[in-house]
Amino acid sequence: MKSSPTFNFKKHFSTYNHYAYVQKKVAQELIEWIPKINIQTALEIGCGTGIFTEQIINYFHPKTLIINDYYDTRPFLSVPYSDFLLGNVEKIELPKTEIILSSSVFQWINTNNLNALFEKLSKKCSSLAFSMYVEGNLKEIKEHFDYSLNYQAPVNIKRILEKYFPSVKMKNSTYVYHFQQPIEALKHLKYTGVTNTLNKTSLSKLRHFPSKTLTYEVGYFYTFNEIQK
Ligand SMILES: C[S@@+](CC[C@H](N)C(=O)[O-])C[C@H]1O[C@@H](n2cnc3c(N)ncnc32)[C@H](O)[C@@H]1O
Repeated sequence: MKSSPTFNFKKHFSTYNHYAYVQKKVAQELIEWIPKINIQTALEIGCGTGIFTEQIINYFHPKTLIINDYYDTRPFLSVPYSDFLLGNVEKIELPKTEIILSSSVFQWINTNNLNALFEKLSKKCSSLAFSMYVEGNLKEIKEHFDYSLNYQAPVNIKRILEKYFPSVKMKNSTYVYHFQQPIEALKHLKYTGVTNTLNKTSLSKLRHFPSKTLTYEVGYFYTFNEIQK
């Protein structure tokens, strides 16, 4: 199988909100699943255009909300926040907050680096809550183009988290989206920044993509100290 590319959001932030119905659904399901604990300070990783940021604000009303993205997405944000941290979460210095949240981001972290990332985050918060795409995600793309990110099995992610957090909760969801035509499915992926590599594939291979459905496999994770349960 071809190796995973870097992500390609920069070009697509302006169209992202219109096409990101999966990411919206995932952000909503994540926030509704996290217990509504009393929080003063929060950090969001990979805020993008602020879809999940808005949910965090409405749900937790944190006094301090620091947001981060690899790219400078500030021109696309219409939500209030305390501070914007620009850069790769794996590399930059992070502040301490009560909770760290992230939706639809960690599948972009190289599998070999997840361990180090979770260790880093565990030193900066008492709770970590996130969604990420997991094993079996976008199987239609993998089958036709022989291309996939190295999506992890949810149990593997949970096992890594358990090294650094005392309690870990997990759940999975599958979403199947139906499109009128296969090309609509590919457009949806393109405009949400998922298919950088497909730009390099042959036109004929693109034209012959047969599937009118896309299957998303999502893992939800919530880690907490026993007292917070
Ligand atoms: C699919 S978008 C999700 C955006 C938003 N969280 C949402 O739910 O709509 C993924 C975002 O993660 C950001 N991202 C990916 N890798 C990152 C990293 N290593 N550090 C910080 N941000 C990252 C991308 O720039 C992009 O904005």
